[in-house]
Amino acid sequence: MHQSKVIKTVYVLSLLPIIIVTAIKVCFKIQDYNLLNFIGKNCYDNPVVNQNISEIIQSWRGFRAEEHYIVTEDGYRLLVERSYSKITQKTPIIIVHGIAMSALGWVNRGNVSLARLLGDLGYDVWMLNYRGTWYSKGHVNLTTEDPNYWKYTLHELGVYDVRSIIKLVNEKTRQIPIYIGYSMGTTGFFIYSTSYPEEAKSNVKAMIGLAPVTNYKESKSIAKYTSYWWPLFKSLIYRFWNGEILPGYSLFLRPLVRFSSGIYMIQSFANLIFGDDFEQIDALTYPQFATQLIDTAGVEVYSHYLQFYETDRFGQFDFGTEKNLKEYGTPTPPVYDLLKNQVPIALSVAENDWLATMVGSNYTYSQLSSSTRCGFRVVPYKKWNHIDYLVAKDLPKYLYKYLFQKIKELDEGLCTST
Ligand SMILES: *[C@@H]1O[C@H](CO)[C@@H](O)[C@H](O)[C@H]1NC(C)=O
Ligand SMILES: *[C@@H]1O[C@H](CO)[C@@H](O)[C@H](O)[C@H]1NC(C)=O
Ligand SMILES: *[C@@H]1O[C@H](CO)[C@@H](O)[C@H](O)[C@H]1NC(C)=O
Ligand SMILES: *[C@@H]1O[C@H](CO)[C@@H](O)[C@H](O)[C@H]1NC(C)=O
Repeated sequence: MHQSKVIKTVYVLSLLPIIIVTAIKVCFKIQDYNLLNFIGKNCYDNPVVNQNISEIIQSWRGFRAEEHYIVTEDGYRLLVERSYSKITQKTPIIIVHGIAMSALGWVNRGNVSLARLLGDLGYDVWMLNYRGTWYSKGHVNLTTEDPNYWKYTLHELGVYDVRSIIKLVNEKTRQIPIYIGYSMGTTGFFIYSTSYPEEAKSNVKAMIGLAPVTNYKESKSIAKYTSYWWPLFKSLIYRFWNGEILPGYSLFLRPLVRFSSGIYMIQSFANLIFGDDFEQIDALTYPQFATQLIDTAGVEVYSHYLQFYETDRFGQFDFGTEKNLKEYGTPTPPVYDLLKNQVPIALSVAENDWLATMVGSNYTYSQLSSSTRCGFRVVPYKKWNHIDYLVAKDLPKYLYKYLFQKIKELDEGLCTST
């Protein structure tokens, strides 16, 4: 314990100069990211980089932000961020983010931020920050120094976090929301809607899943190769970070995003995880995304995802035979049966997504009962990858046009196949 404190201190101290000397600038073109241009006219200070979610929302003309804290049944204190302008739509929208990110992803793309465009359309938007992320690190009994804080799996994200934001929105608005999930936002939803099918059916109007993950069929992502090393990584993460996956590591990216070559370096690595796509890089928001969007997660959440890959089953967490018998009454963990879901589902998938693959998403869709299959849409852009749903230059053209239409249809109770 003593030794790990020393290493942790060294880690934190090593971050400080990086934070101090590298202000985040914004440049008009990727080529402009170099030391000379940084002081020249092609780059300017980024006003958003040190603002929190509410401050960003309030900087938009006519918008209001509200911070709602909820305490889940197992004691985690989560920030739900509400964003709205002039509310003209009855149905509120819930948005839930992916692994190792936060609700910042829905507000930090300037005028193509999802929350902003939904607000312009008159929607009342509620965004979850899953437990463990920057804004949701509270707990009634535990601190983040305690390894027990980080011992949650995907199951808890679904049955506690997703369930409580839906309850909150039901109570505060007295309306039935439409849920938009991205990646882990969809995993959490399916865990909730298969664990509480009746409740989910009456409390959620529909779910639109962007890059849905319930399996890793035919995944090309390097993420799957961490499987072999994971027991070692995991023990290191528990030893040095109490179970939190590399806290603050996006700060290490700060020096890199000053140079176009650094940006290509980060992107080349990201491409191995998400699918290769350089064309959708947005020069104006890349440093922001690379250094601010990336958040943390509990180590067992990643274990749980690897388990989907290793067992090829959308199952509950495997604690080992003995504890499984105690928890589940069976030696192997039960599966989440997608047939139990009764909420209308529309999925958006992409051919070049290496995590939520076409084959895997087709499988997810095929497991749903036919009455809940309300659309399977392939993004009409060949290189669209897993993370383009947040960072792509052409979000309005390739995603939002579809998304806003789909919201409207589902809100009117229409269930079509595209
Ligand atoms: C965001 O900033 C505002 C204004 O400075 C502050 O009142 C609020 O508590 C902050 N919210 C979070 C979640 O840090
Ligand atoms: C917090 O600790 C108290 C006292 O030990 C216990 O009764 C309670 O169940 C704990 N709450 C949670 C959510 O773990
Ligand atoms: C966002 O702002 C840019 C620059 O002012 C403008 O060119 C673009 O059309 C805007 N996009 C949207 C979706 O409003
Ligand atoms: C997935 O489903 C879509 C629509 O049903 C179909 O066009 C496509 O060929 C399928 N792709 C794969 C890889 O199964």
